[in-house]
Amino acid sequence: MKFNLSFLLVLCFFYSAAPRGYCQTEPRKIIDFARDIAPVLRDKCVSCHQGEKAKNGFIIADRDALLGFVEPGDAASSSLWTDYLAQPSRDKVTDSLVMPPDGPLNASQLAIFKLWIDEGANWQIESLLMSSDKESPVPVTPSTPSIGTKVYRAIGYFHPAMVHFPIALFFVGGACAFLSYFLGPRCQTTAFQCIAVAALASVLTVVMGWSFADTQGYPAWDKPLASNATHDEENFFYHRWLGTFTAALGLICVVLGLLARRNKSNRLSHAWRIGAIALAALVGVVGHQGGELVYGDIFGKAIEQLRKE
Ligand code: HEC
Repeated sequence: MKFNLSFLLVLCFFYSAAPRGYCQTEPRKIIDFARDIAPVLRDKCVSCHQGEKAKNGFIIADRDALLGFVEPGDAASSSLWTDYLAQPSRDKVTDSLVMPPDGPLNASQLAIFKLWIDEGANWQIESLLMSSDKESPVPVTPSTPSIGTKVYRAIGYFHPAMVHFPIALFFVGGACAFLSYFLGPRCQTTAFQCIAVAALASVLTVVMGWSFADTQGYPAWDKPLASNATHDEENFFYHRWLGTFTAALGLICVVLGLLARRNKSNRLSHAWRIGAIALAALVGVVGHQGGELVYGDIFGKAIEQLRKE
């Protein structure tokens, strides 16, 4: 018989595959998707990852989408585990991707997820994820956001960078408006130019801020502040509304400034300059709140450094 290399290769392949694939019985898995994983996804994730408005367009009931974040059999290489579930630093800022955004799952849920991934992230196709309120399958509608929505979501990430422009300009504008009472019209012109640019920049910053809040899963605009709100929640609430108010006041001052010049009105001139001074104070408060949201209790930490022996 002629020696046939490809036949031999095929034989080798089956021989090497056989012990693992066919001859060994799979060890019984501890975690069962429908029993152990689905209820957690349903309670902790579905609210934000479902339907049209799913955060980042990520549908948790979409098996392929979720498994896209998983390296079956290896939790340590699965971003679902390393980035989105485990929170090794115990710090929201360092582990900013942790889901759900208001804090990690509890220890036993985390252990179940880790074991599930390590055991191969088994998700039987037929086991659907049920929505939390009604016992009906969560619709798997891959949402396709419009180009406008995509741009709106994208610009949100520039809020923390953009915000420095209106802050600095409102400060300088306010200072010049104050000095204009002593040094005259030259300061007034500078003050006006500063707040005009600042007002436009602040409107853009506010739009970015609302977009950022949306993609980060912060409360919707119409959600009132809870009576038992934490310091961070209060900060979010007042930061967004005071920021929005600042931008609006900025625009009003610019309009008053234009009217004052056209009508040569002294009263209007006082009005916009006082407004500009108030804006400098306001933007200081809003900026401080934003700083706290990003970096934590910065004043407290600074004072701690000063007190160090
Ligand atoms: C309160 C709303 C909320 C809840 C609850 C929530 N998420 Fe998210 N999730 C978000 C937001 C917002 C983003 C986008 C974050 C970003 O881009 O910075 C996100 C993004 C993700 C992503 C990345 C998706 C992508 O395509 O980039 C994964 C994975 C994820 N979440 C998993 C989960 C899991 C698992 C749970 C439940 C344990 C969960 N989420 C619960 C709001 C939420």
